[in-house]
Amino acid sequence: MVPEKYDLKTFLRASAKEVDEELDRLLPPAHEEPYVLHEAIRHSIFAGGKRFRPALVFAVGEALGADRARLVTYAAAVEMIHTYSLIHDDLPAMDDDNLRRGVPTCHVKFGEATAILAGDVLQALAFKIVAADERLSSETRVRLITDLAVAAGTPTGMAAGQQMDLSSEGIEISAELLKEIHQKKTGAMIAASARAGAVIARTDKATQDKVAKFAEMLGLLYQITDDLLDVTQTTDVLGKTAGKDESVEKATYPSIYGIEKSRELAGDVYSQAIKELELINNSELLKSIADYVLHRTF
Ligand code: IPE
Ligand code: IPE
Ligand code: MG
Ligand code: MG
Ligand code: MG
Repeated sequence: MVPEKYDLKTFLRASAKEVDEELDRLLPPAHEEPYVLHEAIRHSIFAGGKRFRPALVFAVGEALGADRARLVTYAAAVEMIHTYSLIHDDLPAMDDDNLRRGVPTCHVKFGEATAILAGDVLQALAFKIVAADERLSSETRVRLITDLAVAAGTPTGMAAGQQMDLSSEGIEISAELLKEIHQKKTGAMIAASARAGAVIARTDKATQDKVAKFAEMLGLLYQITDDLLDVTQTTDVLGKTAGKDESVEKATYPSIYGIEKSRELAGDVYSQAIKELELINNSELLKSIADYVLHRTF
């Protein structure tokens, strides 16, 4: 790996550029019918976003010896599923948010029906592009699609976590249940991104499992810091409405533990993630990604 890739900022910027080009290539063109649907999809995808999950696909894949060319389509797929989950998460029936990635949410700009369909298309297209990626063997594609479906679905994936998150609004839940919700709604897709990097790099099952363990911790950490940022950061910086969780009585780390204890717990989860890395070769970049998640400011 060339030394400049250890500079995380450079790495994240390059990964984002690469996945954005792939997304642009693979998404339905804005000049094709139905225009409004295609515009809505592109509005939400290209509004910004940290492209964290694609970066993780690249970071794990390259650390374990995969070419970028074999990673980029999966990286685009995972960003499609993620953006679909955000579009639906923002709907009035869910978190009811009107700002995302610094711009009006999909349903505010294009209407609820179109926003629902934009999410549907992104989910369907994610599976299609992995199925059609001829740089990967059929066996690898089936494996990736299966893992992605599990991570996006229920009972252990994102949709399950989202249901549990909504069902927990306004009620007191246990710390164990909160952790489970966070692992499902956010951790599962982040773990799938990392594991896919290892699968595409054709590593053995033991390495794939170590990577997944690291990423499960990383995914939990990602949602704990998301909860913390909601109460400590401004709307301007976040590009989404700050303070929203408290106003709808969401179950979050700060709501259960308070800010200080949540920061402490974030540090503990970070340490557990780092511990998993001891067993993985070439993991400097992954460590700097964990540092980034712990200290991120948006
Ligand atoms: C927001 O994800 C929702 C969570 C799962 C925490 P990100 O913070 O990665 O959002 P974008 O992609 O950068 O907009
Ligand atoms: C969303 O969690 C997790 C998803 C699967 C989309 P949040 O509801 O906390 O995400 P934000 O804060 O709206 O980005
Ligand atoms: Mg939500
Ligand atoms: Mg939300
Ligand atoms: Mg949040």
